[in-house]
Amino acid sequence: METITTSRLILRAFKLSDAADEFEFASLDEVGFGAGFKPHQNIEETEKILARFIAQDEVWAIELKETGRVIGSIGLHPDRFREELNTKEIGYVLSPQYQKQGLMLEAVNAVIDFAFNKQNLSLLAANHFSFNEASRKVVLKAGFNYDGIIRRAKCLYDGTKVDLMIYSLDKKQYFSKESK
Ligand SMILES: CC(C)(COP(=O)(O)OP(=O)(O)OC[C@H]1O[C@@H](n2cnc3c(N)ncnc32)[C@H](O)[C@@H]1OP(=O)(O)O)[C@@H](O)C(=O)NCCC(=O)NCCS
Repeated sequence: METITTSRLILRAFKLSDAADEFEFASLDEVGFGAGFKPHQNIEETEKILARFIAQDEVWAIELKETGRVIGSIGLHPDRFREELNTKEIGYVLSPQYQKQGLMLEAVNAVIDFAFNKQNLSLLAANHFSFNEASRKVVLKAGFNYDGIIRRAKCLYDGTKVDLMIYSLDKKQYFSKESK
């Protein structure tokens, strides 16, 4: 997978040796709840998930240049709501201690640029649960359009049923905004 560099971050393929860094945030309730996965119970579980990330080749580790530590992840996944093959869904997670510094917006902007300029995708989708104000701000600041809400779209690991807000960014729309 291609490495992407931004001013503060390196987006690169995961290594199994990233498990300790990944476990530090993927084991937290607040992270799993926002992203829709059950918090990791132990480092062996994290290692299995990283092995899957490495095999699937869809998820970048977000490494902070300053420390060399992995502080989150960002991926381009198959688009669950579209039949068209040339679209992907973006997903991301950041360790709480690094939030509210504009880091995820920086990563998302770089991945959008990669998706449209290098992968030549025609459209990107993004989704978040209705309570996730931070993710809402990230997608809107990145230029996505709000498309609507799917009520009770997912049942979380603790049984909570959540509504999903869905967004998209069309390639043509992205390039017309960029040229302004
Ligand atoms: C969603 C998430 C990735 C945002 O990352 P982040 O790096 O903090 O986002 P940014 O710093 O780029 O912030 C973008 C905007 O959201 C705001 N924001 C960040 N966290 C916020 C919060 N908890 N509540 C309200 N606004 C928040 C920032 O202030 C910023 O807006 P501003 O520029 O007007 O101040 C991060 O909160 C996260 O990983 N959460 C847990 C997992 C998750 O929910 N993943 C997303 C699944 S859809």
